[in-house]
Amino acid sequence: MQDLSWWKRAVVYQIYPRSFQDSNGDGIGDLAGICRRLDYLVDLGVDALWVSPIYPSPMADFGYDVADYCGIDPIFGTMQDFDDLLEEVHRRGLRLILDFVPNHTSDQHPWFVESRSSRDNPKRDWYIWRDQPNDWQSHFGGSAWELDAAARQYYLHEFLKEQPDLNWRNPAVKAAMFDALRFWLRKGVDGFRVDVMWLMIKDDQFRDNPPNPAYAAGQSTRNKFLPVYDADRPEIHELVAEMRGVLDEFGDRVLIGEIYLPVQRLMHYYGQELRGANLPFNFQLLQCPWTADDLVRTIGDYMAALPEGAWPNWVLGNHDNPRIASRIGVRKARAGALLLFSLPGTLTIYYGEELGMQDVLIPPDETQDPAEKRQPGIGMGRDPERTPMPWDASRSCGFSEGQPWLPIGDANRAVNAGSSRNDPGSMLSLYRRLLQLRRAEPVLVSGTLANLHVADGVIQFVRSDAGKEFAILVNLADEARRVAVEAGSIIACTELSREGEAVREAVHLMPAEAAIIALS
Ligand code: GLC
Repeated sequence: MQDLSWWKRAVVYQIYPRSFQDSNGDGIGDLAGICRRLDYLVDLGVDALWVSPIYPSPMADFGYDVADYCGIDPIFGTMQDFDDLLEEVHRRGLRLILDFVPNHTSDQHPWFVESRSSRDNPKRDWYIWRDQPNDWQSHFGGSAWELDAAARQYYLHEFLKEQPDLNWRNPAVKAAMFDALRFWLRKGVDGFRVDVMWLMIKDDQFRDNPPNPAYAAGQSTRNKFLPVYDADRPEIHELVAEMRGVLDEFGDRVLIGEIYLPVQRLMHYYGQELRGANLPFNFQLLQCPWTADDLVRTIGDYMAALPEGAWPNWVLGNHDNPRIASRIGVRKARAGALLLFSLPGTLTIYYGEELGMQDVLIPPDETQDPAEKRQPGIGMGRDPERTPMPWDASRSCGFSEGQPWLPIGDANRAVNAGSSRNDPGSMLSLYRRLLQLRRAEPVLVSGTLANLHVADGVIQFVRSDAGKEFAILVNLADEARRVAVEAGSIIACTELSREGEAVREAVHLMPAEAAIIALS
């Protein structure tokens, strides 16, 4: 285990900075706030932080519209605050991963301001300009092309019109963006999570996407067409390998790619000879229906598809998807946590998952997310999973002295970090135990996974390594189950008090109960 790169052993904790901890009373989280909460993360037992974008931004998409790749937005603090954070993170033996947003800039970025100023501006070709639009649709609904009246040309925006797409076929764009990566790498950041990696290169002939026969009224207009020509193009892999090369100039850093693709396509992002992304994000568990059969198939397919030597990774939630506790219910989310921590590879958890945080219903007139504003009422909004972290039971839950930018929600207030800390029945206690176990038992990180199957609604598999063998059982049936298993003892259970229980030939599991058994 010691010879594994740090990121292979890591449990990464994603922070959505607007919602983690406010330090100046403006109701929006910031870098000094994160710094104040580092000891909580050490106590929790995670290894690395990934912080969603903190760069200067008009915040049309809350930081995913970057106006300067080498700065800090004043909402989040100053460059000094960043340097302090990095130092404090490293002093505690943690790692810091930044979010890099290469597909598009803000329309306020000086590059785009220049680019749109005239057809013959030297930066014109830094973005994607066409005389005629094609049928490509924005991920936030509507055409992905915006007419710029002055020069009577259209520019491409895969997201908001305030987020024009960069032209990565232009070597000058590549050089400038790679230099931005180097700026942070030189400071000592430990890696990047790359936003929408699979979208960065588009068809050079701008062919129309074919219609999607499965499109149904009420879905996002993005679904009207199959993304054949504006996503996952063959040339992307060379670009990812080059990006990886930039990180490799600095030693053991990690390149994580945000990629929503079917498993077979996803695997290409590890690259030829694994020279692509270290971790193409595996979102299979985010999208999988939560039944034993579906989960076993999903996990099995992913493991089977991994290229030789490729390192697996798993995610239950992020800032773009409903929270796991809301998706499957709090009880099953405990089983989900135990399942997650029993899988091989790198894990990423989303802030608040460790508390069992739930989505918060946002009244329409309090909507913040542009995805919801542009296509209201069809489930596109991401505010519910971005609400402030509840630290204690005070008015703003210790998140802010002021009015939080999104409501905290009663359910989340009730499971705040403070009251969860010493409650053995809390989700937090379960997460702390699972994190501790994962550190103590490398077999959970890097041991083989075998005998994955479902019996009677119970997921079962075995993790093993030289001399150690753990049986994992997750009961997703609606009734209690008695599961035959070899002799051993329970070393982790969704019912924490069962730890240490001896197992002879069978274990009794209540619905949504899950356990790790060390076989003797
Ligand atoms: C990614 C981000 C999402 C953002 C989009 C555009 O999917 O995770 O939050 O809106 O890219 O940058």
